[in-house]
Amino acid sequence: MPDLRPSSAPTAPVSWVIVLAAGSGTRMRSVLPKVLHPIAGKPLLWHALTAAAALEPDHLVAVIGHGREQVGAYLAEQHPDVDQAVQEEQLGTGHAVQSALPDGADVNGTVLVTYGDVPLLTGETLGLLAAEHERAGNAVTVLTALVENPTGYGRIVRDASGALAGIVEQKDADEGERAIKEINSGVYAFDGTVLVDALSRLTPANAQGERYLTDVVGLARADGHPVGTLLAADAAETEGVNDRVQLAELSRQLNARLIRRAQLAGVTVTDPATTWIHADVRIGTDTQLLPGTSLEAGTVIGSNCVIGPDTTLSACEVADGGSVVRSHCSGATVGPGATVGPFSYLRQGAVLAAGAKVGAFVEIKNSTIGPKAKVPHLSYIGDATIGGGTNMGAGSITANYDGVHKFPTVIGENAFIGTDSTLIAPVTIGDGAYVAAGSTVTSDVAAGDLAVARGRQHAVKGWVLRRFSGSASDRSARAAGATDRAVAPASDEAAATAS
Ligand code: UD1
Ligand code: CA
Repeated sequence: MPDLRPSSAPTAPVSWVIVLAAGSGTRMRSVLPKVLHPIAGKPLLWHALTAAAALEPDHLVAVIGHGREQVGAYLAEQHPDVDQAVQEEQLGTGHAVQSALPDGADVNGTVLVTYGDVPLLTGETLGLLAAEHERAGNAVTVLTALVENPTGYGRIVRDASGALAGIVEQKDADEGERAIKEINSGVYAFDGTVLVDALSRLTPANAQGERYLTDVVGLARADGHPVGTLLAADAAETEGVNDRVQLAELSRQLNARLIRRAQLAGVTVTDPATTWIHADVRIGTDTQLLPGTSLEAGTVIGSNCVIGPDTTLSACEVADGGSVVRSHCSGATVGPGATVGPFSYLRQGAVLAAGAKVGAFVEIKNSTIGPKAKVPHLSYIGDATIGGGTNMGAGSITANYDGVHKFPTVIGENAFIGTDSTLIAPVTIGDGAYVAAGSTVTSDVAAGDLAVARGRQHAVKGWVLRRFSGSASDRSARAAGATDRAVAPASDEAAATAS
């Protein structure tokens, strides 16, 4: 099954990757720290760390500050291999990098710096940056991008020969510099020794009163070290998220990338514009995704499946040949060749074995549906185990909850549960047993038995003719030969055994 995550690419050894994530993210207007906002089902920071981890650095450090309790807790839980460095006060990007490097630590080799709020940057591009840094023998290599509107970014200033001279921030730039469309992405490769030395010499003598990481370029060059740039092939990769408009824009771009990757790996996507695939989703070849399909985090789809239209699968597994049509499923497993929908709701722990069928307006929770068993229409199945080949009639319900406790229902194989039956748990229905339509089953049914648990039918002869004399019903009944006479109720045995 193809993996939709980025593949490995040419790179060079990296000793440190430092991911800056201490900023406040005010423009998100959120109680959730910016880097924890998800795109493609994962926090922005996950994307940054996943790209960084692809380089297998000796040290991977996230610099946190604003919202650090939440961000730190997320890191500890989801990225235990990532070191956390706390930047108490946000005194600038240079100061942030300094916070990541322990005092007196030997910082040798290549150090990459990147941002926690730049989710489209790939491990490949970081690898290319490291490779170019090594090839050129640079002390600093800046990842740059050409953009139509460079407002807000640091500008790449070059000397007469075209060599990198320095980076000037928007607020410190003159008119000529502001016209430059090559911008600093904020992603760099540094020689560790040069970096540590330059960081110690940064001053806040600039328009924002911050210690700019960008000043390391000028300092290194002044010391005679070679500095250079790598132009990003795709400027979008270097874009950061500052507000929810950008969050949605980058979300769509990342989705387009994930869909393209799936298509090139052999997945048919009918309408990329309305199909959403989260970053960790895996899909087998010759599977079709129909319009309006969302495959959310933790979902794995096999080969030759049909998913959609209008279907959401979250943390679900669908085996080869499964189909899920117009349904909402979360935490469910759909076995090989099993079919779901239209209009099914599979909840946590719904497990469909091979060839099982779940049909229209059926809800299933924490239940196993055996091989080729069917729950075709209008059922609620909760905390149940249903054996292979069993048929659950339309409207059959497992009554699993007394308001306080949940109870199990166990149904054997090749059983037949008649339409509109309520199985009051805990209850067991044996192999090959039948339950008559309309039954309310309160005690176990042995293998091969028929349970009939409903009111007996009796007829009140001629009642309509007496009660609604002269009505349309009266006229129709009389035309059909009915006469006004009261007789004893007939036996309903025939009706009781029909299902
Ligand atoms: C920075 C660059 C600019 C570049 C731009 C790209 C500097 C001085 N400027 O500008 O040249 O074009 O990024 O987006 O570096 N952060 C911290 N601690 C701090 C300050 C920032 O962790 O004290 C983090 C932020 O969380 C963010 C990143 O560093 O992830 C960039 O900070 P931001 O304030 O957005 O930098 P810009 O002013 O946009
Ligand atoms: Ca920014």
